[in-house]
Amino acid sequence: MALYKLGTIFANGPVSEEKKVKALNPILISGKEVLPLIEGGKGINASDGRSSGAWAHENCVGTFSGVSPDYYDEKGNVLFERYFKKDRKSRHEEMVEQSIKGCLAQAKIAHEISNGQGRIHMNMLWELAGSQQILTSVLEQAKGLIHGVTCGAGLPYNLGELASRFSTYYYPIVSSARAFQVLWKRAYKNFVEFLGGVVYEDPWLAGGHNGLSNAEDPNQPQTPYLRLVELRKTMNELGLKETPIILAGGVWSLKDWEDYIDNPDIGKIAFQFGTRPMITKESPISDAWKKLMLQLKKGDVILQKFSPTGFFSSAIKNTFLERLIERKNNEIQFSHEKTEEFSEILKLSETKVVYIRSSDSAKAKIQIEKGFTEIKETPDNTVVFLTPDEWVQMKEDRKNCVGCLSQCQFSAWSQAKGNSGRLPDPRSYCIHKTLYDVSHNGSIVDNLLFAGHQVYRFATDPLYRNGIPSVKELIEKIKAGY
Ligand SMILES: Cc1cc2nc3c(=O)[nH]c(=O)nc-3n(C[C@H](O)[C@H](O)[C@H](O)COP(=O)(O)O)c2cc1C
Ligand code: SF4
Repeated sequence: MALYKLGTIFANGPVSEEKKVKALNPILISGKEVLPLIEGGKGINASDGRSSGAWAHENCVGTFSGVSPDYYDEKGNVLFERYFKKDRKSRHEEMVEQSIKGCLAQAKIAHEISNGQGRIHMNMLWELAGSQQILTSVLEQAKGLIHGVTCGAGLPYNLGELASRFSTYYYPIVSSARAFQVLWKRAYKNFVEFLGGVVYEDPWLAGGHNGLSNAEDPNQPQTPYLRLVELRKTMNELGLKETPIILAGGVWSLKDWEDYIDNPDIGKIAFQFGTRPMITKESPISDAWKKLMLQLKKGDVILQKFSPTGFFSSAIKNTFLERLIERKNNEIQFSHEKTEEFSEILKLSETKVVYIRSSDSAKAKIQIEKGFTEIKETPDNTVVFLTPDEWVQMKEDRKNCVGCLSQCQFSAWSQAKGNSGRLPDPRSYCIHKTLYDVSHNGSIVDNLLFAGHQVYRFATDPLYRNGIPSVKELIEKIKAGY
């Protein structure tokens, strides 16, 4: 039955709206009985104190992002991130300092708006450089304001120990039963009390970074139902029968997921919404971004691997992404030595040449003729073609790196070593710069816009026909099955 429902989602879009959805019963989340409806955390500043506070106010769970959140002056004006130091390591420390201020500011706002209702969670990207330092400092200073921490992108082994130290519930985000089992065996089995739930984030449907493993094919989505049943089976075997699973990725209307509610094979379940809450009055994203999402069609969101984290991610196919795709499509393999196979010279600069296959000569020539005259090596013995302006911008972005990731493929920054020693990858981009820019009214054309694959449903969903709903209105509709 559940498989049929999944088929419906993929093949035909929303299921019929005639039937009312099963009633949702409150469940225990982060120490309180709340409705099992959760706003997913979205960085940078795409979910914040205002949105998470509004979700909590409706006796649900709101999640603000802990990645470079906004902080304010005494008058409530946003204080934009500022960097004064010359070297990357020092700028990384400035970034951490400002992130802590931002998290505390957002936690306070969320707490005030929630009026003590629901639960407030904070989301942290584990691969963020300094994530543990930020979390420790924030949980130390925000006692009583943050009830749970969700954490994905990587394997957050230390999350259990860190959150438990502050009596805060923790929620690893995984995309398979296997990933959870690894975390459990190595770390979480010693921190059972504060394991609040396990977020299953579907890697083929969810917006943002996606946890596809090397064994999984981005073009061959698997049914979330079977993967959830496997996760529940694993959790039951580990003695976690009462621990909820939080389903994230592709959740729009609960009608699509009705077979997952009160299903003994899945057990306690809550639903996390990432993309749908982005068009609400309380959502902090720009009006232009909201307007764009209201017009998208099926296929306008693509799963790709350009992120400097090395993870797959799902984002809107705009000029920013199209240019990365084009660059990748025109990539050419080379050899440093002339061989029978790599026989044609390609000049990279006045002093450097490489050798390419003769079959790639025409491709290179076309690129150069089109003005993509800056030819840059990737770490995989390939070259890509950039315009002089793109190359100037890329150098500038690398120069301004603030060391936001533990390992960055774009700039070769490494938190542990200062420099990873790998060649910076010109097929990638500075994720900090672009997400920060778009979250502060930056271009929706020339920046990365994360979104889930169900985003096209905004265009036909009657809830958005007469304007932008409030979080309260959205939650009422979700509860009613719309
Ligand atoms: C704009 C955007 C930014 C996101 N940023 C993060 C993030 O920083 N950390 C994280 O764990 N998940 C992030 N997510 C994932 C969401 O929290 C949520 O799990 C996901 O969007 C659910 O799938 P859906 O978009 O189909 O509802 C992001 C999603 C979107 C759309
Ligand atoms: S270059 Fe990489 S590490 Fe540096 S700020 Fe940008 S995304 Fe972060």
